Amino acid sequence: MSEQDAAPEKLWGGRFNAPTDALVEAFTASIDFDRRLFREDIAGSIAHARMLARQRIITQPDCDAIVAGLEAIRADIEAGRFVFRPEREDIHLNIEAALAERIGEAAGRLHTARSRNDQVATDLRLFARAACDEATARLRALRRALLDLADREAETVISGYTHLQRAQPVLLAHHLLAYEAMFARDSERFEQVRQRTNRLPLGAGALAGVTYPIDREWVAQELGFDSVIPNSLDAVSDRDFVVEIHAASALAMAHLSRLSEEVVLWSTAEFGLIQLPDAFATGSSIMPQKKNPDVAEIVRGKSARAIGNLVQSLTLLKGLPLSYNRDLQEDKEPLFDTVDTLLSSLAVTAAMLPALHFGAERGRVMAVGQFALATDVADYLAKRGVPFREAHAAVGALVAKCERDGRRLEELTLDEYRAAHPAFEADVLAIDLDAALRARSATGGTAPEAVAHERASARARLDAEAAS
Ligand code: ARG
Repeated sequence: MSEQDAAPEKLWGGRFNAPTDALVEAFTASIDFDRRLFREDIAGSIAHARMLARQRIITQPDCDAIVAGLEAIRADIEAGRFVFRPEREDIHLNIEAALAERIGEAAGRLHTARSRNDQVATDLRLFARAACDEATARLRALRRALLDLADREAETVISGYTHLQRAQPVLLAHHLLAYEAMFARDSERFEQVRQRTNRLPLGAGALAGVTYPIDREWVAQELGFDSVIPNSLDAVSDRDFVVEIHAASALAMAHLSRLSEEVVLWSTAEFGLIQLPDAFATGSSIMPQKKNPDVAEIVRGKSARAIGNLVQSLTLLKGLPLSYNRDLQEDKEPLFDTVDTLLSSLAVTAAMLPALHFGAERGRVMAVGQFALATDVADYLAKRGVPFREAHAAVGALVAKCERDGRRLEELTLDEYRAAHPAFEADVLAIDLDAALRARSATGGTAPEAVAHERASARARLDAEAAS
């Protein structure tokens, strides 16, 4: 392309006399990243062309040539044979210009009753819809991995924590089910986001609607959209669905980062609760003994990206006047990045879980350490009519005494208990780890029976969701 005819050769070059500055061309081009939308762009164009023919806006032979040309271009892109040209700016113009080279004049009719503004919004919604579906599928796979691990480790006891101080014993399965609950909410969120994403912008034109007798409802059906976005200004400028995917992803990544942090903690010598599988650990280049939980660390680290991208998407929309503004081109890279980040993080975490090996003995030792049964001893008194506050004070005094003597609560004699409070009787000596777990049988508690029930109902919910 010579300098003189550079701008006129552009698809929008009619009113231009001078070529685009090379810096501007490089700066404004989005083809390096929006080429990722080629399938969506071609699907949208094919539906649009078919609608134009149905409505007699273009002829059937022109439509057939357009569809065949677009399908051939798709095949070429998929085969890596297509040459993307940065001077053609973006995926839309690259495909349209290539179509013109292949089929001639008919290609010029494809963009009738359409603008790149409603076109790109349609492409992005198709991408976003598929991303929601994939996120939901991978969240379900992760939930299944958590439930499988909970079943496998049904008997394993660990210490529960508050303030990262040992608090009360819990079943590991109970702990894992708490994560399953987080990811179940994430699945639900992506399904809801999908509903608001799955609405058709095409037919809005540049901003004000089009002057042709188009059939947007037919296009919506053809592309699997649930409905048509009624307001043309909103259709070309709404990126709420992008923000919502970022929000749902950032929260899911925050959940993953919490689980990852536990894996990091559990694998330390200080916790000593899990052995990291070799396949999911890496070594140190200097310290021969090291085995590091890098997968969990990187997932934890990647949550920062998702949160940053959420803020980027909100900032992009803040103060943006109606309707389409080129700023919106900046919506794509962070969205692609977040979707890739989320999907890979979900997959690697789901793959790592079954490989974790828990030291059941270590779990029990930690679970009773640091007076973890003190609440149960206080509950013992309260159930015998002692006001809970009075019981709390008496057991607190016993804990202080044990701490001074370097003993555990379970080692106290009945006389020592009775010296702290006269309501203690011989059966206080029966309070142990398993009794403490069994006692928490109210709905939502960590009693083995309650947790078995929760495992089963979580699995039933997941199966029902996956089948629907
Ligand atoms: N590359 C643009 C984007 O990503 C496509 C729409 C361009 N529209 C326009 N009027 N320049 O938003």
